[in-house]
Amino acid sequence: MRTHYCGELNAAHLDQEVTLVGWAHRRRDHGGVIFIDLRDREGRVQVVVDPDTAETFANAERVRSEYVLQVVGRVRRRPQGTENPDLSSGEIEVLGKQLTIVNSAETPPFHLDDDTVSEEHRLRYRYIDLRRPEMLARIRLRAAVTRELRAFLDCQGFLDIETPILTRPTPEGARDYLVPSRTHPGEFFALPQSPQLFKQLLMVAGMDRYYQIVRCFRDEDLRADRQPEFTQLDIETAFLDEDAIMALSENMIRRLFDKVLDVQLDDPFPRMTYQEAMRRYGSDRPDLRVPLELVDVADLMRAVEFKVFSGPANDPAGRVAALRLPQGGELTRKEIDDYTKFVAIYGARGLAYIKVNELAKGRDGLQSPILKFLPDEVVEAILQRTAAEDGDLIFFGADRARVVNEALGALRVKLGEDRGLLQGAWKPLWVVDFPMFERDEEAGRWVSLHHPFTAPKEEHLERLTSDPGACHSRAYDMVLNGTELGGGSMRIYRGDVQRQVFALLGIGEQEAQDKFGFLLNALKYGCPPHGGLAFGLDRLVMLMSGAASIREVMAFPKTQTASCPLTHAPSEVSTAQLAELNIRLRKMPDKTGD
Ligand code: AMO
Ligand code: AMP
Repeated sequence: MRTHYCGELNAAHLDQEVTLVGWAHRRRDHGGVIFIDLRDREGRVQVVVDPDTAETFANAERVRSEYVLQVVGRVRRRPQGTENPDLSSGEIEVLGKQLTIVNSAETPPFHLDDDTVSEEHRLRYRYIDLRRPEMLARIRLRAAVTRELRAFLDCQGFLDIETPILTRPTPEGARDYLVPSRTHPGEFFALPQSPQLFKQLLMVAGMDRYYQIVRCFRDEDLRADRQPEFTQLDIETAFLDEDAIMALSENMIRRLFDKVLDVQLDDPFPRMTYQEAMRRYGSDRPDLRVPLELVDVADLMRAVEFKVFSGPANDPAGRVAALRLPQGGELTRKEIDDYTKFVAIYGARGLAYIKVNELAKGRDGLQSPILKFLPDEVVEAILQRTAAEDGDLIFFGADRARVVNEALGALRVKLGEDRGLLQGAWKPLWVVDFPMFERDEEAGRWVSLHHPFTAPKEEHLERLTSDPGACHSRAYDMVLNGTELGGGSMRIYRGDVQRQVFALLGIGEQEAQDKFGFLLNALKYGCPPHGGLAFGLDRLVMLMSGAASIREVMAFPKTQTASCPLTHAPSEVSTAQLAELNIRLRKMPDKTGD
C-alpha cells in the first residue's frame, strides 16, 4: 500500500511521486488549503491538499484525528520560512493528488501530544499510547537490545533453550502465581519465578552454555522497577568459574552500551564487597554517581547521654552513622522536616543533624537539636571523621543496622538527586562476597540472601556448621546507577552440600525430597560445576532509555495493583469453568467495601 514510510522522506526524494499510508496526526485548515500531518512508525510528514483537486480536497475536509489515510502525491520543497527543523522530513512536504480515507476513527480518548494523561488512562488505551513517538522509541530500543544480546550470546556459543511455564514453585523469595490443573483435581502448577532449576538441569544434561529471554512471574509488592511478570535474560554455563562468568557478562553489557547507545562503560567494572557496599552506602546496590558516603560513629556514641544514639551504639545489631551533605547548611527547616518524613518510610524514628555554620567558632558555630547531648570531644571527633567544612550539614541515623542502612542509604540517593550532585552518567559495578544467609529475627531462622542453590565459598564450607552467619557465597550482582541489573552465582553441585544448605534453611529431608527431589536426583548423575546469572531485561531497557519505570518499556504492563486496565485482567470466571477445575470459591468479600 505504500512506497515509503512518512518519516523516511526528506530532500533526497524531491519531485518523486510517493504513496504513503498512516494516521492523521493533525489536520489544519488554512484558508482554502488543508495541511495534514501524516504519521507512521518512522515519523511524520506534512501533506498539503489544495482545492484544485476537488475530490481529494473533499476527502481531506472529512479527515479527523487518527483517521487512517492513503495519500498519493509529489514531494516538494517547503516554501522558505516554513521548514520545521524538529522533523526529519521538515524540509519537504507532499502535495497530495489523491487521498483515500482507509478507515475513520472515533475521537481518541487523548491526543498523542497531551502529556498530562493519567497512567491508568494510558494503559486502558495502550494501543493509542503506544503510537506516541517516545513510546515507540522505547519499544524499538528494547528490540535493539534483545537483538544485540542474542547476537553476542550466539557468537559465544550459547544455545537458546525454552523451559516450562507450567511448573513447580521455584524459591526466589516471592509468592507464586498458581494455575489449577483440570486433569489432576486439587493440584496446581506454579508459574516460574525464574527458570533457575531447569537451567541447572540443562547443565547436568551437558548443554554447556544456555540462555533464554524468558518471562518470570512473581506475586510481590510492586514498585517502579518491579512487575508481576517481567523478562529476564537468563544465562547458565558449565565449567566456568565466577571470574569467567562475570567477565563474559560485563563484556556483553559493555558491547551492548557501545552498539546501542554509543556509550563506553568502565573496563573492567569495579568490584566491591557486600560488606563495603553496606558500610559506605547502606545498600547492596549503591548508586556510585552520588558522591556522599555513610560514616560510622557508633564508637563515639557509646557513652553519650542521648539514649537514641547510645542504645544502638552499644547494640551489636545496631548502627550509628553520619552522612555529610556538603553545603547542606542551606537546607531550610521545612526541607529537613521533609527529609525526616522521607526516612520515616524506611522505619527511621528521626533524623538528627548538625549544621556546620562556622568551624572556627567551636560549638557556637554549630546548630543542632542534639548538640546539648554531646560532649565537646565527641563533637570534635564527628567533625573530623566526616571531614566537615563550613556550610555543611551532617545527618545522623541510629537504630538497628537494617533501618539505618535503608534510611540513610535512600536519603543519600535522594539528596544526590535533589541537590544535583550526580557525577558521571553510567556507574556500573559488581557487588561480591555476599553472606550466604541472613537471620530472619522474627521467624528465628536463616534465609538465603540469594536462592538456596547458591554455592558457599569453598574455604567457608566448614562455617555452614560452625558459623552460618559468617559463611560467604559465590554470588555476584551487577549494579548500574543504583539499580540491581542482574545477579547470579556459582551453584551447589554436590548433593551433600545442597542437603546441608536445605537443612540450615529449615527445609527437612522429607520436604527437600518432595519439593526438590528431581534436583537432588540430578546431582547424583554427573553434575558439572556450573553457574550463571539473570539480568532484568526491563530494568536494563528502563535505564538505557532513561525511563522512570519499567512500565514505560513494556508494551502491555500491569498497574501497581497487578491488574490490566486494558483487558480488565484478572477477571472472574464462570462457575462452569470453576467446576471443571474442581474449585469452589469461598464467599468473596463485598467489593464495595464492607
Ligand atoms: P533474581 O531474583 O536476582 O535472580 O532476578 C534476576 C534479575 O531479575 C530482575 N527482577 C525483576 N525485574 C522486574 N520485576 C521484578 N519483579 C523482578 N524481580 C527480579 C532484577 C534481578 O536482578 N534465578 C536467579 C538468577 C541466577 O541465580 O542465575 C534470579 O532469578 O534485575
Ligand atoms: P528528640 O530528642 O526525640 O526530639 O530527638 C532529637 C533529634 O534526634 C531530632 O532531630 C530527631 O529527629 C533525632 N532522632 C530521633 N531518633 C533518631 C534516630 N533513631 N536516628 C537519628 N536521629 C534521631
